[in-house]
Amino acid sequence: MESEGVQKIIGIPNMTPPGRAPSGIDRMGIDCRIAQSVSVFTDLSCNNRGKIVLGDQVILMDRVRLVTGDTWTNRDAFITIGSKVIVNVGAYLSGEGGLIIEDEVLIGPGAKILSAGHDYKGPPESIYRHPLTYGRIHIEKGAWIGASSIVLEGVRIGRGAVIGAGSTVTKDVRAFSIVAGSPARLVKWRDGYRPRHANTAEKLLKRLYNFLSQWIR
Ligand SMILES: CC(C)(COP(=O)(O)OP(=O)(O)OC[C@H]1O[C@@H](n2cnc3c(N)ncnc32)[C@H](O)[C@@H]1OP(=O)(O)O)[C@@H](O)C(=O)NCCC(=O)NCCS
Repeated sequence: MESEGVQKIIGIPNMTPPGRAPSGIDRMGIDCRIAQSVSVFTDLSCNNRGKIVLGDQVILMDRVRLVTGDTWTNRDAFITIGSKVIVNVGAYLSGEGGLIIEDEVLIGPGAKILSAGHDYKGPPESIYRHPLTYGRIHIEKGAWIGASSIVLEGVRIGRGAVIGAGSTVTKDVRAFSIVAGSPARLVKWRDGYRPRHANTAEKLLKRLYNFLSQWIR
C-alpha cells in the first residue's frame, strides 16, 4: 500500500556511496548521485589518475558521457566539476582539451561540451588522418547551459550566464548575459546585472542608427 503524504521523487539517481563512482571517475565528493548508465571514456593507466574529479552533491543523470580520451598521449586532458553541479540526461562532456565546470552550474539534457575537434586544414584529404585540436572550456559558477546546446573548444562561459536551448556557442560568453541561437548571440542581460558600459554602447549605437537613418531617408 502507498504511504500517504510522503514525498517520493523518482527519476533522479540514488546517492552514490563513497568508492562506488563509475570506473574512470578518479575523485568524487560527498552526496553525489551518479546514474548507473553514466559512461566514461578515459585511460585507466595507474600513473595517469586524477583526471576526472567531481565536487560534492554533483548529479550526473542517465546516459551522461564523460570523455578525456587517451590521457597517456594527451596529458592536457581533464574534467574538473565543482560542487552542486547538475548534468541532465544524455549530456556529452569532453575534457580532451581540458574542462572546468565551476560550482552550481546546470547543464541541460543533450548538451554537448566539446573541448576537442579535428584539424581540417591542408592535406591529406581524409580528416581521419589529421591530428586532433584542443581548447580548454571553462564554465563559471552558476551558469546555465540550455538543452541540446553545443559549446565549442576554447570557449569561456561567464558567471551566471544563460545559454538558450539549442544554441551553438562559438565565442566567450560574458558573465550574466543571456545568449541564444547558432551562432549564439547576446539576447539580453540578466535582470539587475546589465553592465554599465553595455548601456553606453547601446546608446551610442542607437544614436548612430538614428543619424544614419536621417541620411538614408
Ligand atoms: C534563453 C531563455 C532562458 C530565454 O528565456 P526568456 O527570458 O523568456 O526569453 P524570451 O522568450 O523573452 O526571448 C528573448 C529573445 O530571444 C530569443 N530566444 C530565446 N530563446 C532562444 C533560443 N533558445 N534560441 C534562439 N532564440 C531564442 C527569442 O525568440 C526572443 O527574440 P526576439 O526578441 O527577437 O523576439 C529560454 O528561451 C531558453 O532557451 N531556455 C532554455 C530551456 C531549457 O534548456 N530547459 C532545459 C532545462 S535544464
